[in-house]
Amino acid sequence: MPTLFRKSKEIRNYVRLQKCENGRSIGLVPTMGYLHDGHRELIRQSKIQNDLTIVSIYVNPLQFGKDEDFGRYPRDLERDILVCEEEGVDAVFAPSDEEMYPESPVVNIHMEGLSDILEGKFRPGHFNGVCVVVLKLLNIVQPDRAYFGEKDYQQLKVVQRLVKDLSLPVEIVPVRTVRDTDGLAFSSRNTYLSPEERESALSLYKSFLLAEKFIKSGNTQADLIKEVIRDFILRHPHVRKIDYVEITDEDLRPVQEVREGDRILLAVWVGNTRLIDNWRIGNANL
Ligand code: PAJ
Repeated sequence: MPTLFRKSKEIRNYVRLQKCENGRSIGLVPTMGYLHDGHRELIRQSKIQNDLTIVSIYVNPLQFGKDEDFGRYPRDLERDILVCEEEGVDAVFAPSDEEMYPESPVVNIHMEGLSDILEGKFRPGHFNGVCVVVLKLLNIVQPDRAYFGEKDYQQLKVVQRLVKDLSLPVEIVPVRTVRDTDGLAFSSRNTYLSPEERESALSLYKSFLLAEKFIKSGNTQADLIKEVIRDFILRHPHVRKIDYVEITDEDLRPVQEVREGDRILLAVWVGNTRLIDNWRIGNANL
């Protein structure tokens, strides 16, 4: 069983002891819980690279907009702890809201050119919330490495830049996106989908494969590829709207002509569920 910590002070003491007295390296996997195979992959990477692995589980209110799904976000700490046990996690940090935010924070983290594009444009304040909580978690736990999924590609980029700009003593390790056998990227929000909606949600992954084919056959104009993706996704029932389809270079700068290594990023509403996914061009051998 992993040790469960509820208080910052306690996990900090635990880490200090493990680092100083036992010389152990620490990997942190920050999550909002309801753990799935994507989270498991982050944990596995951490287990390979560190002596001890800590998973944080905290549904961070600060990163949800007021009309978003904070209230209904799935939570099941008991089950999460079992998953952590299965994966050989050493400690779980699951703080309460009072513990994380005894006062609502007045600090704001704005990442110029990074936090107001793509997701940030549709979810104002989202990356401020992510940055504040990640910075707090890194300060509380003080891990040697922290693991972030490419599934949330912009989040990964924001966190990498935060760490670089502020010289935080931690290595950010990116982890590939884990997909279900049918191609749907694992997400805690998939639990909102009805079976019919889930079928339509597969259009995100399928649109990436379609785009790959389109590009391989010589079409490299970003605008055209985006149009093909949009048309394809919108043809599926239950798809309510597309927030964005963008193609950027690996640093999230928009491109006109696509090249290998560029990213397709999209956010789509299927029923009442907002799904995001992204794809590295050149990833499929079609
Ligand atoms: P959450 O959505 O729980 O995701 C936790 C971590 O798991 C993130 O780094 C995310 O990118 C990664 N992840 C999610 N689905 C994945 C998948 N299918 N394959 C690979 N990795 C995946 O992202 C958050 O929580 C929060 O914003 C957080 C960073 C914890 C801050 O509150």
